[in-house]
Amino acid sequence: MSQQQEQWKSKIGFIFAAAGSAIGLGAIWKFPYVAGTGGGGAFFLVFLLFTLLLGWPLLIGEFTVGRKGQTDAISTYRKLAPNTNWAIIGKIGVFTNFLLLSFYSVVGGWIVLYLVEALTGRLSGLSQEAYGQRFGEVISNPTSTLLAQLIFILLTVIVVAQGVQKGIEKASKIMMPALFILFVILVIRSLTLDGAMEGVKFILVPDFTKLSSETISFALGQAFFTLSIGASVMVTYASYLPKTQNLPKSALSIIVMNIAIALLAGLAIFPGVFAFGLEPNAGPVLIFTVLPVVFDQLPFGFFFLISFLILFLFAALTSAFSMIEIIVATLTKNDQKKRKKYTWIIGLLIFIVGVPSCLSYGVMADYKIFDRIFFDLIDYLVSNILLPLGALLISIFISYKVPKNELFEEIRQGSSIGKVAFALWLFIIKYITPIAIIVVFLDAIGLLDWFIR
Ligand code: PFF
Repeated sequence: MSQQQEQWKSKIGFIFAAAGSAIGLGAIWKFPYVAGTGGGGAFFLVFLLFTLLLGWPLLIGEFTVGRKGQTDAISTYRKLAPNTNWAIIGKIGVFTNFLLLSFYSVVGGWIVLYLVEALTGRLSGLSQEAYGQRFGEVISNPTSTLLAQLIFILLTVIVVAQGVQKGIEKASKIMMPALFILFVILVIRSLTLDGAMEGVKFILVPDFTKLSSETISFALGQAFFTLSIGASVMVTYASYLPKTQNLPKSALSIIVMNIAIALLAGLAIFPGVFAFGLEPNAGPVLIFTVLPVVFDQLPFGFFFLISFLILFLFAALTSAFSMIEIIVATLTKNDQKKRKKYTWIIGLLIFIVGVPSCLSYGVMADYKIFDRIFFDLIDYLVSNILLPLGALLISIFISYKVPKNELFEEIRQGSSIGKVAFALWLFIIKYITPIAIIVVFLDAIGLLDWFIR
């Protein structure tokens, strides 16, 4: 049986697809509200440092493993470390992505519903409180939220079933540049609101008194989450790469785009928050309640709101593609004849698993496990446990399981990275990232205090 491994069509196509995976709800929805709760500028600075100092090396690490393996996430670890149990990293990755998409698609569904709300004229001319109330009503309706979640998953499945080149790459190449352009327009409007400077200061000027160990662990988690690190998604995407791609440089482009979008999201939202006297720490509702108010102030606000929601949806979709792609690639073992069928089946299963997360903002709101609604529980499990664990294991794998000269050979193909830069990269992967992850992890589960005491 001949199995033709998929390939990206162009260098830029890969970069847009990987940036598409990175840029999503993490940068646009989560970042502003986590930064808003975590003190603004100080959080942004720590996030920036983690992204550059730890995220970039790790992203290069996932790319290197993926391109060297040239196969799916589970087989890659098997191929690079035969007769060991390291394929567990790939298995954790598949499981993580399955759970991740099960609640990610819930928020994707909210965007779909907001789009319908906007198109039917129900998202304009309200007060901020009324927008908050409307959001609460929208996300608590069981029928429409489930339907919207299903639509989001269907859109993901339709694209991914087309394959890497014709589906993911093609869609990302249109969606990502469009997202940037609209964001810039939005920011220009936000910055010209009366009182916008307060918001700019909030996100750009760090107030270090606001830094706590919690803020720091959130910033690390956020840096990894927004870069799609720890779930072998980037390993899978890099397995479709030719040896001519410059891995460190591609990783840097993705890092820069990711930071740019997070910054643009902050600059689009916080000026509005301050100009209208709202609270920056409103939590997950922030983007859904602030932006409609900002759009109300705009000439052609209706048009901009619709465009923004469509692009927000695109950003979430391009991330969702990567989540389902790693599962499809591992289950089909890159056999293209199986792709369509498997994508549909996986999509359906994810939807079923996601039902309790979807309903946990409505009819299942009182149903709590470990004091958390189902959505928060799965989010916590993925973002605070599985992704850091995956990142930790990948660092250990790279440091101890792949021979140093082979790593160097792989990274050097397509790039001109020197011995010193390579040694520095490996040092970070071997010592700094694992320590940072372990410290943050202990802090997240409340054990750090216990150790320090
Ligand atoms: N990076 C995506 C976002 O910020 O929305 C989320 C994500 C995708 C995380 C894929 C992890 C992953 F494997």
